[in-house]
Amino acid sequence: MSNKIFEDKLSEYISRINNKLDEISSIPNLPQKSVYEAMRYSLMAGGKRVRPVITAAVAEMLGGDVDTAVCASAAIECVHTYSLIHDDLPCMDDDDLRRGMATCHKVFPESTALLAGDGLLNMAFELLSDDEYLKVPADMKIRLISALSKASGTRGMIGGQILDLEGESRNNLTIHDLELMHRGKTGAMISVSVEFGCILCSLYDKTSDEFVKIREFSENLGLAFQIKDDILDVIGDETVLGKPIGSDKSCGKNTFVTILGIEEAEKCLAVLTDRAVSALDIFGDRAWFLKELADALLRRDK
Ligand code: IPE
Ligand code: IPE
Ligand code: MG
Ligand code: MG
Ligand code: MG
Repeated sequence: MSNKIFEDKLSEYISRINNKLDEISSIPNLPQKSVYEAMRYSLMAGGKRVRPVITAAVAEMLGGDVDTAVCASAAIECVHTYSLIHDDLPCMDDDDLRRGMATCHKVFPESTALLAGDGLLNMAFELLSDDEYLKVPADMKIRLISALSKASGTRGMIGGQILDLEGESRNNLTIHDLELMHRGKTGAMISVSVEFGCILCSLYDKTSDEFVKIREFSENLGLAFQIKDDILDVIGDETVLGKPIGSDKSCGKNTFVTILGIEEAEKCLAVLTDRAVSALDIFGDRAWFLKELADALLRRDK
């Protein structure tokens, strides 16, 4: 597969997703408009849109409608952006740069940034439940809402974030503790992006070969994604990455790099990516884009 075909397909997904995000984050002329401004600031600041791209690509691989997938995936990007706004707050990672721009709480009052995060979280569920916006049957909506609320909740992203914060400066964390943290704080939102694609294509049977393999793909990819993030925090280039280098060190975070070292972390990343890619073999040629994507995420520099 030529790289150009992959890059073009990726750009096409991203531009459809960005158009949708632009549309849903228009600023109403209301007395509370400042919270909308802060929400839009962070949502439209850029970002790789990895999660929505995954949803759209999984849906397309399974023969689903890409426009519908893009609509649903915008909700995931809202939740993800909220998690970034909160992750950057002084009470969490205390970072000043995100997506190449000043963090939300540096541009708006901290209280506004906090509420913008909350606003994006609520907006996600508003979008999914709105019949004018997402035109799928009610039982499918319930499945989407249930999956996203679980993935972003205390057994998913929030759970991982608390483990991350409580793990700061602890010197007895094992690789298993770290894996649990990473699967929560990052893996869960990657997995739900895949799951959204499945739900939209009525692939519900969790015991089916297709579902089992697709879950194997998402779990390996999710963990790999955070390991790469840990590596980039050490060896990345801040101007390319769009967020500070060395943030983990300054917070005393335990990461795959602090526990394994760069070389081992890189090896782990390669093994996980390999597993993710192989898991898609049962989909044959239809999996080409997701396989290329997993590889591109392994090699990414931002
Ligand atoms: C950053 O996510 C936070 C993690 C979960 C690792 P991304 O690397 O997807 O950030 P954006 O969306 O491209 O800014
Ligand atoms: C954050 O992990 C994951 C979430 C926002 C849920 P990190 O703290 O490592 O993300 P970055 O490096 O700030 O993007
Ligand atoms: Mg963090
Ligand atoms: Mg952070
Ligand atoms: Mg990080």
